[in-house]
Amino acid sequence: MEEQIIIEGNTPLTGEVNISGAKNSALVIIAAALLSKGDVYLDNVPNLTDILTIIKLLKYIGADVSFENNSCYINAKNINENVAPYELVSTMRASFFTLGPLLARFGEAKMPLPGGCAIGSRPVDIHLKGFKALGADVEIENGLAIVKADKLVGAKIYLDFPSVGATENILMAAAFAEGTSVIENVAREPEVVDLANFLNSMGARIIGAGTPTIIVEGVQNLGSTKYKIMPDRIEAGSFMIAGAASGGDIIVNHAEEKVLHSLISKMLEAGVKVNILSDDKIRVIGKNCHLKSVNLKTLPYPGFFTDLQSQMVALLARAEGTSIVHETVFENRFMYVDELNRMGADIRIESNFAIIKGVEKLSGAPVKATDLRAAAALAISAFLAEGETIITGLEHLDRGYESFTSKCSNLGANIRRVPMEKPLVKAK
Ligand code: UD1
Repeated sequence: MEEQIIIEGNTPLTGEVNISGAKNSALVIIAAALLSKGDVYLDNVPNLTDILTIIKLLKYIGADVSFENNSCYINAKNINENVAPYELVSTMRASFFTLGPLLARFGEAKMPLPGGCAIGSRPVDIHLKGFKALGADVEIENGLAIVKADKLVGAKIYLDFPSVGATENILMAAAFAEGTSVIENVAREPEVVDLANFLNSMGARIIGAGTPTIIVEGVQNLGSTKYKIMPDRIEAGSFMIAGAASGGDIIVNHAEEKVLHSLISKMLEAGVKVNILSDDKIRVIGKNCHLKSVNLKTLPYPGFFTDLQSQMVALLARAEGTSIVHETVFENRFMYVDELNRMGADIRIESNFAIIKGVEKLSGAPVKATDLRAAAALAISAFLAEGETIITGLEHLDRGYESFTSKCSNLGANIRRVPMEKPLVKAK
């Protein structure tokens, strides 16, 4: 039965929260395991519906996969399918990450084009241009991208935009290409570094991940490995914002300062107190802080993350003054704003800018999550609102936040997840 979350607001979050493994790293690393014929053991894999979807896809392709207690075992020695089913790619775009590894393993692969999603049209042209540069023929037929290469050959590749997914897909294919690939203007996101470290742990030869240029010396085989997925910086950031916005005082464990700089600097500017307790422990104090408006612009890493844009807007909704948030990474990432306005926020959208006039209070309301990060933004608003908020659309939340309700409840939130009441049926 469909479920909903009910939050009684006006509760500052206090205490400690442990951050799970990074969804975006785990997804691509599980796909990358298809490159190896050896045994791959992954630790710190978050238990999320997106992870279950990529595992389903790997099993469909013929890999042996098991997943229990945040550990995942994969053996892709006997994979026998090079076409992914449309249902899986359309429910989760990250399924497209299997294209690079399948091309490298089979010399031919077919992948349904993912199409648009709730945050905008999401083309894959940069992925495909990269495969072409490595010597593949690329055709689009019946909604499928068909890529073929007798042999992948190292090349110099320039990405038109530092796309995270394209960098990762091309990197996986280049790991098997003959000779050297130099990939320029790549994404520098920490998840790309995690993927490169994982590939290197299986015997790949990749340097430069985390900088604008990655150099790959192709190899013929990749072997077995044991690897621990990095912590989820977006989940960490979401809890940091929730702690601050609710006027609370929380310690976020497994939150690495070095990958959260842009957020920390904007939180400080907004008047939040942030103490770095150690390499992976951050204390955030919103209690007795006077929140002030800030302007920000989302950008590729190390710029401010688009994946924390909606959560930050939820915080700014109650900050004094007018904030302007400029979304430059995705074309349509403000759909949740109407729901925040239903809670009393004063936010106006003009093209890809949100103009946020801080209000004195928000009040609880029934709201619906429109995408994964919007779900977290609604919960953040609910913690600081007066009265009860009912959040539906939890399928989005479950894609990216492990044990969200219990983590919030351990921080003192008055939150419960319950089956949805039956809709009212109009009497005949
Ligand atoms: C990844 C993350 C997502 C995050 C995003 C940006 C995963 C599973 N998801 O998504 O959480 O919000 O990075 O940090 O890791 N683009 C093109 N052509 C392409 C590829 C992308 O035009 O071939 C555009 C997209 O439409 C978008 C922008 O580039 O406007 C950024 O997309 P990209 O960096 O590729 O994001 P994803 O890898 O899809």
